[in-house]
Amino acid sequence: MTDHRSFSAPTYGARHVAIIMDGNGRWAKKRMLPRFAGHKAGVEAVRRTARAAQEMGLEALTLYAFSSENWKRPESEVSDLMGLLRRFILADLAEFEANRVRLKVIGNYRALDPSLVAMIDDAIARTADFGPTTVAVALNYGSQDELARAAQTIARKAAAGEITPDAIGPDAVAAELDTVGLPPLDLLIRTSGEQRLSNFMLWQAAYSELYFTDTLWPDFNGDTLARALEEFGRRERRYGGL
Ligand code: FPP
Repeated sequence: MTDHRSFSAPTYGARHVAIIMDGNGRWAKKRMLPRFAGHKAGVEAVRRTARAAQEMGLEALTLYAFSSENWKRPESEVSDLMGLLRRFILADLAEFEANRVRLKVIGNYRALDPSLVAMIDDAIARTADFGPTTVAVALNYGSQDELARAAQTIARKAAAGEITPDAIGPDAVAAELDTVGLPPLDLLIRTSGEQRLSNFMLWQAAYSELYFTDTLWPDFNGDTLARALEEFGRRERRYGGL
């Protein structure tokens, strides 16, 4: 593996960082390359960043790889992204296992191609007991879809008499989200200069710090992550208090 450095940079108390990986297409365009080259370089950035997160001792790194709205892209691009994901699992699962990194997937990934779902389930099962770092990949993920699915589960429980409507508070909702078991989201990063959440972790980001960088995703690495965490360390978090 290339570009490997050890990152002992501090996390400033952050346990969970999520990233909206944006700018693959623009990275490729700047180099007069096809969009696929940008996504391919984006996978390298995923590798570097996951490694850095593990070396820093972050408990969770959540990456927005494919949104429930990304199906609107041309079929060829959707199929390129699915192919890259497949190759990523094939090529990198061994490294996840060697480094004892747990893989989690958020989003309605069961709607993907059945052979891909089987690969994902196998990777999740093989790393299920690892830690302390979890890399969560968001696939066919949309926050509104996640909340609607959680509402359906809770409604079914209520209809079955397993929960009373009065008992449905924030904890009951959080327990049905795909992110259950992950620490609270401390820092949400979006690359490539866009400043919006694009249906990503809307519930979980209630008290997260937001960090926007002009860096295009394929240029992201452990240093960029360390800079975002330094900025996080300078923020004063008040959670609605004084
Ligand atoms: C945004 O760039 C990026 C995506 C839609 C997908 C992110 C996917 C990867 C990094 C590769 C697959 C991931 C894994 C985990 C194997 P864009 O295409 O919207 O860029 P643009 O806004 O510059 O066009």
